[in-house]
Amino acid sequence: MARKKTVDVEKTADDMFKEFKEVSVTEFFRKNKSHLGYAGKIRSLTTVVHELVTNSLDACEEAGILPEITIKLKQLGQDHYRFTCQDNGPGIPIKHISSVFGKMLAGTKFHRNIQLRGQQGIGVAGVTLFSQMTTGKPVKISSGTGSGVVHETKLMIDVRKNNAEIVEARDIKDRWRGTQIEGELKGVLFSLAEYGPFEYMRRTAIANPHATFTFIDPEGRKTTFERSSKKIPQKPCEIKPHPKNMDVDEFIQMAKASKGRHVSSFLETEFSRVSKSKVAEIQSTVTFDLKKNPRRLAWSEAEEIVKAIAEIDFMAPPTEGLCPIGDDQVKKAVLNILEPEFEATIARSPSVHSGGVPFQVEVAVAYGGNAGRNISDGGLRTEVMRFANRVPLLFDAGGCAIQKAVNSVDWKRYELRDFEHSPFTIFVNLVSTHIPYTSAGKQSVSDDDEIIKEIRMALMDVGRKFKRYHSKKRREFEKEARYTALMKYSTELASAVSQINGKDEQKILGDLQDLIKKKLRYSGGNKE
Ligand SMILES: Nc1ncnc2c1ncn2[C@@H]1O[C@H](COP(=O)(O)OP(=O)(O)OP(=O)(O)O)[C@@H](O)[C@H]1O
Ligand SMILES: [Mg+2]
Repeated sequence: MARKKTVDVEKTADDMFKEFKEVSVTEFFRKNKSHLGYAGKIRSLTTVVHELVTNSLDACEEAGILPEITIKLKQLGQDHYRFTCQDNGPGIPIKHISSVFGKMLAGTKFHRNIQLRGQQGIGVAGVTLFSQMTTGKPVKISSGTGSGVVHETKLMIDVRKNNAEIVEARDIKDRWRGTQIEGELKGVLFSLAEYGPFEYMRRTAIANPHATFTFIDPEGRKTTFERSSKKIPQKPCEIKPHPKNMDVDEFIQMAKASKGRHVSSFLETEFSRVSKSKVAEIQSTVTFDLKKNPRRLAWSEAEEIVKAIAEIDFMAPPTEGLCPIGDDQVKKAVLNILEPEFEATIARSPSVHSGGVPFQVEVAVAYGGNAGRNISDGGLRTEVMRFANRVPLLFDAGGCAIQKAVNSVDWKRYELRDFEHSPFTIFVNLVSTHIPYTSAGKQSVSDDDEIIKEIRMALMDVGRKFKRYHSKKRREFEKEARYTALMKYSTELASAVSQINGKDEQKILGDLQDLIKKKLRYSGGNKE
C-alpha cells in the first residue's frame, strides 16, 4: 500500500515539471498587466499618459532643456482612442529605439542611484505592449536628435523573446529634435474626473513649474499649462548610498561587487559621509578586522557592521543628488493654480530610508480660493496631492505612506475642524534617488517608518502655520461681529441717554461710537 503511494507521487512530480519553462518578463506582464497600472478603463489611459510624460520630463531635464510637452487624445470608437505625445527633448539615437520601446528592463536606470522619475526600465515598453494587446497594432515612434535626420519606426514586441519586432522604418530629412510616440488603445476611457488624464496633467503642471504642457482632449479642447518659471531644475546626478538604514542583504551585495581591497576602504569610498574616523568607530565595535577583503565578508560580519552603523551618528546625506522643487517654485505654482487666501510651504532636510537611500520631503498647504476639490453633490472635499519625484500619484492612496502620514495628523489641533470637507489642499512631494514603490505601477509609496515620520513632521509644521493664520482670522471675525452688534445698538442707546440727561443725541452717539472703536481697536478693515 505504502509503496504504491510513492510511485504515484513520483509520477505526479514528473508530470508537473514537464510544463516547467522559463517565461520572458514581457510575457509575465502580458498576463499581469494590472501590475503595470493597466486596470480599469480610466486608469489604463492615465497610465499611458503618465509613462510618456514622465519619460519626456526625465529626458529634457537630463539634457538641460526646458520641457515643452504636448499630449493629444482622439476618440476613434466607443472605448477606442489614439494617443500622441510629443516632446522637445534630446531625442533617442536610432540604435536604442528598439530596446527602449520593444524590450522590458533594457537600459534600465536601476543601478544608477540617481533621482529620476523613471527607475525600472519597463514603462514605455509597457505602453507598446498594452497598445498591441488591445488593438493588435504597432506604435509609431518619430525621433530626431537635431542631426538632420528624423527616424520613424513602427514596432511591436515579440512577447516570447522580449524583443522588438520592427514593422516599418524610414528616415526623413529634418533637423527637428525631440520624440513623438503615437499609438492606439482599446478598452480605455477618457474622463475629466480625479483619476483621469486631465487631472494628471494639471497636477504634473503644479509640480513642474519649469515645463509647459499642452493637453488636447478627445473633444478637441486645448488646455495649455504655461510654465511659471524658466529655471531648469538642477541636473540629476548620481549619489552614493548613505550608511544609515542599510539592510544586510544590500550591504553584502555592494561588498561583493566592490573593487576595494579592504572592508575599510570599501566603506570609505562607496558610501557618503563615511570618514576615516567613522571607520575607526565601526572597527571599535565589530569583532573582526576591517582590513578583510570585502568580497569575503560573511553574513554575520555584515550584520555586525550594519548594527554598529545604527549606533553611530553620521552627517545627513548630501543634498546635491536630491532636487526638490524648492519653496519659491512651489509657492509660485500653488498661487498660480490654486489662488488660495493662505499658503505655507516647508522642505525638510534630507534623511535616509531603508537601503541607505537618501530622500527629502517638501510639503505645501493651501486654504481658500480654488483649494480643495469640488465633488459631484456640490460639496467640497479636502484634497491630498501626492507626488514622488514631481510625478503625481493618483491611484492606490489607501496603502501609500504619504496618505498614511496625512491621516496620522490630528488636524483638529490645527483648527481644521472638519478635515474631510474643507477648502484645503495638501501637497506632498517625496524626492529620492530610489522611491520605494509598492508595485511596478508606481502609484503608492511603501510603508517606511522614516518616510512617514518626515512627512508627518513637515505636515505638523505647516499645520502650525495654518493654525496661527486661522486663529488670527477667527479673532478678527469675532471682533468684527462684536463691533457690528455694538454699533447697531449705539443709536438706540444714544437716544435713550439723551432723553434721560437732555444732552445732544448726536454728540452722545459720536462719543459712544468713538469709545466702541477705541475699545475694539477697530480700524475699519476686515469686512468680508
Ligand atoms: N521621450 C524620450 N526621450 C528620450 N529618451 C527617452 C524617452 N522615452 C524613453 N527614453 C529612454 O528610454 C528609457 C526607457 O524608458 P522606460 O520608460 O521604459 O524606463 P524608465 O523611464 O527608465 O523607467 P520606468 O520603467 O520606471 O518608467 C529611458 O530610461 C530613457 O533613457
Ligand atoms: Mg519611464
